[in-house]
This record gives sequence, C-alpha cells and structure tokens, in this order.
Amino acid sequence: GVISLQTGASQVQDNHSMSKMTSTSHAPLQKWIDKMITLCTPDAVEWCEGSNAEWDRLSNLLVKSGTFTRLNPEKRPNSFLARSAPSDVARVEERTFICTRRADEAGPTNNWAEPTEMRELLQGKFQGCMKGRTMYIIPFCMGPIDSPLAKIGVQVTDSPYAVLNMKIMCSIGSSVLKRLEEEWSGVAPKKRHGHKFFIPCLHSVGAPLEPGQQDVPWPCNEDKYIVHFVETREIMSYGSGYGGNALLGKKCLALRIASNIAREHQWMAEHMLIVGLEAPDGTKTYVTAAFPSACGKTNLAMIVPPESYQKAGWKTSIVGDDIAWLWPHEDGKLHAINPETGYFGVAPGTAYETNPIAMDSMLENTIFTNVALTDDGDVWWEGMTKEAPAHLIDWTGQDWTPDCGRPAAHPNARFTAPASQCPTIDPQWQNPDGVPIEGIIFGGRRATTMPLVYQAYNWSHGVYIGATMGSEMTAAAAGTIGKVRRDPMAMLPFAGYNMGEYFAHWLEMRRYLKHLPRFFHVNWFRKDENGKFLWPGFGENMRVLEWIVKRCHGTAAGHETQIGWTPAPEDFDISSMQNYSREQFEAVMNYHRDEWKAELVSQAEFFLDLYDHLPKELIFQRELLAARLA
Ligand code: GTP
Ligand code: MN
Ligand code: MN
Repeated sequence: GVISLQTGASQVQDNHSMSKMTSTSHAPLQKWIDKMITLCTPDAVEWCEGSNAEWDRLSNLLVKSGTFTRLNPEKRPNSFLARSAPSDVARVEERTFICTRRADEAGPTNNWAEPTEMRELLQGKFQGCMKGRTMYIIPFCMGPIDSPLAKIGVQVTDSPYAVLNMKIMCSIGSSVLKRLEEEWSGVAPKKRHGHKFFIPCLHSVGAPLEPGQQDVPWPCNEDKYIVHFVETREIMSYGSGYGGNALLGKKCLALRIASNIAREHQWMAEHMLIVGLEAPDGTKTYVTAAFPSACGKTNLAMIVPPESYQKAGWKTSIVGDDIAWLWPHEDGKLHAINPETGYFGVAPGTAYETNPIAMDSMLENTIFTNVALTDDGDVWWEGMTKEAPAHLIDWTGQDWTPDCGRPAAHPNARFTAPASQCPTIDPQWQNPDGVPIEGIIFGGRRATTMPLVYQAYNWSHGVYIGATMGSEMTAAAAGTIGKVRRDPMAMLPFAGYNMGEYFAHWLEMRRYLKHLPRFFHVNWFRKDENGKFLWPGFGENMRVLEWIVKRCHGTAAGHETQIGWTPAPEDFDISSMQNYSREQFEAVMNYHRDEWKAELVSQAEFFLDLYDHLPKELIFQRELLAARLA
C-alpha cells in the first residue's frame, strides 16, 4: 500500500492500489518506521508484499525510469538489464565501517568508527535523503523461516532495484511480516529461537530530488557509507545502489552482523558454498568451501562431474554458493543452512563450457547488472562465447565492436537468479534443520607453493590453515599483481569483529561438536614456469572432491607429509583423465621447502598485525609446521 506524503518531483510514480498494508501491529517496528519517515522525508511510503504482481509493477516502473532494459521475452522471459553509474560497480571496502565502543573490538582488519560520532554524521546524510522518492519497506528473512538460525530484518530503501534483487535473494514481504507480528503479539508459539525482533536496515542511494528535478537512471552519491552498528545490531548504508552495498541482507547482515551474533550464540556465519556429493553407493556427503571473492565458490557449488564420474553414478547438488550459517546440531554434527534463496554471481567467464548449471539457472526471471546487450535483446559478457558478437551495447550504454579495445561487460558484472531455477538444487536446500557437514575446504588463488589438495591433521591445524589462507591479487585490485593477500577463511572483508577473536571462536566451536568435520586446503590455480595452469579445474575438481569425501569417511589413503595428509597418485583417479600424466599430477601436488619457508615468513608478518588477540594455539601450529619443515 502507498501512503502519499507530499507531491513529488519527477521520479517515475505509478498509480496503483495494491495491498492494504499501511502499518504494522509490531509496535517497535512501527516506531522505527515512523522515525525513518521523519528522518528521510520520502514523498510516499510503500510496504512490500513480495508478490509477483508487485514484481511486475516495480520492474515496469524501472523500465519507464530507464534503470531497467527489458530483455527480449522470447530469449530471456521476465528478465532485465540494469546499467549502474560507472562509479557504483562494486563493494566499497574502504567505505565499510564497523562501529563498536572500543576500536579494539573491530580489530585491525576492519575500518572502525566511534558509534555516537558515526550516528551523528549519518543523521546528517540521511536527513531528507528520500525527498521526491518512494520509501519501500521490505520485511525479509535470511534462511528458512523455521530454522533455529533464521533471522528477520526489515530494510527501508528508496531503491526499487534493491527491492527486486532482494525478492530474488531471500524471502520478503507479507508472510515474513505476519510471522514477525504473530511472534511479537504472542499469537504464534514462541520458539526457542523466535522472531520477536528484527534487524533494522536503512538504505538510501543518497540522491534526493527537488521539485521538478529530472531523475537519472542510476541515482547514487559520490559519498558512500556502509555502516554496521555491532552492539545494537543495526545496518545503515548510504550512497550506493550496488548489490553488496544495497542488498543489506547479504554481506551486511548475513556475514558482518551475523558473525557477531554467531560468536555470542555458538554458531558460525561464513563466506562459504555448501555442496552435496552423492557417491555411487548412494551415500551423500555435504562439504563447505571458503574461497575469497572471484576464486570459484559459485563454480564449485555448481560442479558438473566428468563423464566417467557420472557414468559411475556420482551426483552433485548445490545448497548454497556464497554464505553458510553453521551450528552444532543436537545430533553432535555441524549443520549448515544457506541463508539466501538466490545467486548474485559474477557474470564474466560464466559459460556453458565452464558452468552450464549457472547458465541454466538464469534463463528467465533474472536481473543482469552491467553486462552487454545484444542486438536481439539478450545479454553477453566476456567469456560467454568464444567469439564476441559483431555489435553490442556495452555496460556503459555505448556502441561496442570486438575491435574497440574496451570490455563489453564490467569485470564485476553480475546476474541475480533464483536458486529455485538451478537444475542441481539440493532437495534439502530449504530444510530448516540444514545439512550435516563432513568436510570444510579452504583455498585461494596461488600460482606457487600450495599443492592441489592436502588435509589438516586435526581441528586446530585446520583452523590454522584457514587463518593463514592467502590469495594472489588480480589486476582488478590495487597493489602488486601476484602478491599474496592474506584473506583468513575468505572473511577479511566480512568478519564483523576482531580477527584474532574470530580465530578463537573457530577454535572454541570444536568443543560443541561430537562428530568433527575434516579440514582440507585446495588450490585450482597452481601454474608452471610458463604461466600455464597445472590443473584443468572446473568439472575435473570432482576428482579432488572424491578424495575429500573418502577421507571424511576414512576410505581413502592419506600420506603423512610435513604440510599435512596428501594423496599419492595411486589414491587419485587420474587414469580416466585425457592428456593428463602422472608427472603433471606430481607437479601440481609437489611442495617446495623454499616456497614454504617464504610462506612462513609472510604468515608471521600477518600474525604480528593481529598479535594482541591471536590465540596462542595458532602460534603453536605455526611452530609445529616450522619444526616439520626444518
Ligand atoms: P564471489 O561470488 O564474488 O564471492 O566469488 P566466487 O568465489 O563465487 O567466484 P566465482 O565462482 O564466480 O569464480 C570466478 C573466477 O574463478 C572465474 O574467473 C573462473 O573462471 C575462475 N575459476 C573458478 N573455478 C576454477 C577452476 O577450477 N580453475 C580455474 N583455473 N579457474 C576457476
Ligand atoms: Mn561472495
Ligand atoms: Mn559467487
């Protein structure tokens, strides 16, 4: 329902009479909404119900305002292309803040800000920020609503683009609000982990419209703030309309705020995929994997095994591709849910050859951001096909030809697709009880040093391997290309508190589990001296997963080495690989003492930065490794 407050500027308005919702019986929510209306002074307020009619209405609105281009319905039904402002294309780590009373609580790996000062500063920014626009209120739930870990948030935003992306990425609207209201009023039985309260999430693109002022297709502000008030569990995001900055349920709530809640309540919020692996004998094993951004989570979660594996009866399925919430279940095992219901995946490089499952998940009902538009009204990006079309409209809206010297899609162009459309979606993906996790995999992009796979000796060693994880910087990031950036558990930009304390939490979690998952480290990106990948990767990674599954069940051999347990060529099915020799396998599995010495030195530097809060157990693990290598 729309409450019209003032007569507006020339933001495209629609004349509709949808839901009757104009208020809520949840008193604290109503109070917060009233406060937000007074602060942001929107022209209209609209409660999102999450229906398909609402989707149609808002997507038409975005087509009219120029934010969306409707794709050819015969090629890509109910799908849209959005082109962002060239300055608003990615998460902004340097504008992301963790507010805690003491700087020490945020730790050296986060940008800290004093909460009272930040609140005052933001008050000024948000004052009148929605003038000339509609405020959308999105009740949303991260995780299956009956899961003990599910969390309800309410996002207030002036971006209809954010509303539509949120509808794909999690459950939103009337059903979530109803549940919140029922548990608040006591109508619904209160569960041990109920939904009595919500996490308030305020978002604005920071572009108020004066009367008569013409809107732009992608409103945003040069000044950006992505702020997390950890103690009061509040999120405020200003100035950006881009995914990670604007869909507040994702990185802000499900990782930064959730990691704080998880620490307090003995569970874990992690930057991990969850994949199911069914062996020919019907045994199903679930594993999680943490790789830094753009290092292959979505690809591994959607893995298609090589033909010989399919023939033998191996099956794979996806529970999640980006975030996992894990807790010690009553059965003594670590269980995991995926708090999301959609994929916000990197488009460039995604192709039928490398990730057909992703390609088939985005055939309809998908939002594409910053990809190129083909002449027949479909999408294209670098790597989608071997040959580029002769003519495109690039992500900036300009004509594009293969020889023009510019990329057609932005390197961080994304697709937002519903998980329910994924051909390999796991039957248990919405189970509130989650799936039991047998293995935890860490990995990054390493041209040298790290072998294809090795297994940790125990939980403590596994946490050490995750804590010292590194990945080479790509051309996209500032800094020396190829230089290793430490990205512990792939959580460097997402751990919402002191990194040393986060490691301590990981170590402590072992105490709540009767059945311990096994830890592994993988590296798909090792190169030879000519810069050629030593491992074919993608579907072939199934061979590594097979060894991991069998190690979890104690049915494959592992060889004790200085760095951990490793497979011998005999333990690994390379015979069914085409043009892959035992020598190549030995090269990708090899490790060199000199490289590992350098690795130890680099880890020491990182540990020094975290020293105050670093658990001694991790220092001992480093000593043990040094002793083994000596
Ligand atoms: P976020 O969604 O940003 O968290 O990243 P992600 O971890 O999901 O990354 P994604 O799966 O989108 O990985 C993208 C990049 O990794 C692409 O450049 C892929 O081509 C590359 N990649 C993925 N798997 C493999 C592999 O097995 N081998 C090689 N060589 N490259 C891979
Ligand atoms: Mn991610
Ligand atoms: Mn991904």
